[in-house]
Amino acid sequence: PAWRAVRGRVLTFLAPPLGAGDGASYRYLADGLVLARDGRIAAVGEASPLLATLPADTPVDHYPDGLVLPGFIDPHIHFPQTQVIASYGAQLLEWLERYTFVEEQRFADAAHAAEQAVFFFDELARNGTTTALAFCSVHPVSADAFFTEAERRGMGMLGGKVMMDRNAPPALTDTAQSGYDETKALIERWHGRGRQRVAITPRFAVTSTPEQLAAAGALKREHPDLLVQTHLSENHAEIETVRRLFPEATGYLDVYDRFGLTGERSLFGHCIHLTEAERRRMAETGSVAVFCPTSNLFIGSGLFEMGQAREAPAMRVAVATDVGGGTSFSMLRTLAEGYKVQQLLGRNWSALEAFHLATAGNAAALGLAGEIGTLEPGAFADLVVLDARATPVMANRMARIDGDLEEELFVLMTLGDDRAVRATYAAGRLIHAAS
Ligand code: GUN
Ligand code: FE
Repeated sequence: PAWRAVRGRVLTFLAPPLGAGDGASYRYLADGLVLARDGRIAAVGEASPLLATLPADTPVDHYPDGLVLPGFIDPHIHFPQTQVIASYGAQLLEWLERYTFVEEQRFADAAHAAEQAVFFFDELARNGTTTALAFCSVHPVSADAFFTEAERRGMGMLGGKVMMDRNAPPALTDTAQSGYDETKALIERWHGRGRQRVAITPRFAVTSTPEQLAAAGALKREHPDLLVQTHLSENHAEIETVRRLFPEATGYLDVYDRFGLTGERSLFGHCIHLTEAERRRMAETGSVAVFCPTSNLFIGSGLFEMGQAREAPAMRVAVATDVGGGTSFSMLRTLAEGYKVQQLLGRNWSALEAFHLATAGNAAALGLAGEIGTLEPGAFADLVVLDARATPVMANRMARIDGDLEEELFVLMTLGDDRAVRATYAAGRLIHAAS
């Protein structure tokens, strides 16, 4: 068997999700060791006793001040949008039309998709993200490029080609039938191949006909273990458009609900402007609302109320970058903006909760609790090693912090970015190391 050990200050969160101020459900080892065997975690514990049990030639990567955590999970990101990050001056519908729908057309070209996939996964690894749930373009070749590159690196990824059969340029539309057929073929090619998973991906209600949403619902019935990912209630003009396109529905969420697209395996990006009834229905169906703070601020969409989401009946929530509406691949930057959004709403968001959500919480949202987002034995050895003194400002601030873990995490999420990522491991393999 292939053994690998990572030694450092080990931190992992335990399910169930942390309640506010609940410091009990994490485990911290000041000198800990994560032992991987054939890509999965075999043991976690105090370094000295564990080291004594290892085969003599086991490689041990030692990060004395490094904080070893489960790799970050990004449950909402757009693979073909890396080159639209920082596109100026538009809110959602205009941003899609003016920038995104132009850019995504380039992913019909397999060579372009393959080249961008290299960049995309380099960027995830540099930022300590080991699993993502991604929207690819409408073209199946974009999904093939995405999964091919993920597999090459041993990273466990989830994604799907977007289904969109109206209100987009002809070069970017499929049909209800071809979207169904192409997704079906992707499932056959990629779903369950190693760590890869296909997700049913109707882009959003604006760009799908009722026939296409019905086809997505059929895919979900035929493959109940697949995730569904889409967008919901991000922007007022979008919500108005959905009302106009689906006058028979009681609201935006109801459009998805009618076609069987809600449920415990459904992730809805944004969910900023839900009505009280919609929030209740999200909770009732176990659907996940994905908070995308850098995107919501950059596109000017609005403020997601984490506190309200958690009030009974509580919605399941996740947190994600939404690149390229989002402005950073870094989950640290994402948590920082998430914190600021909650501040604008007069609420707090503790660093423990934020880090829990970016790891174990997002894993649960993907239905992968115990597989990823944790350092419990049996999980994949997907790790990130963070350095809270990575920049002069961070080091200067840390000099005033006397070993308090929660304060250190808050420094990391408020001031950290890719520079704070010392190393990233996927299934026990080093996939990024800071120079
Ligand atoms: N709604 C539909 N498509 C998109 C997209 O690509 N990005 C964002 N932020 N919202 C969307
Ligand atoms: Fe999105």
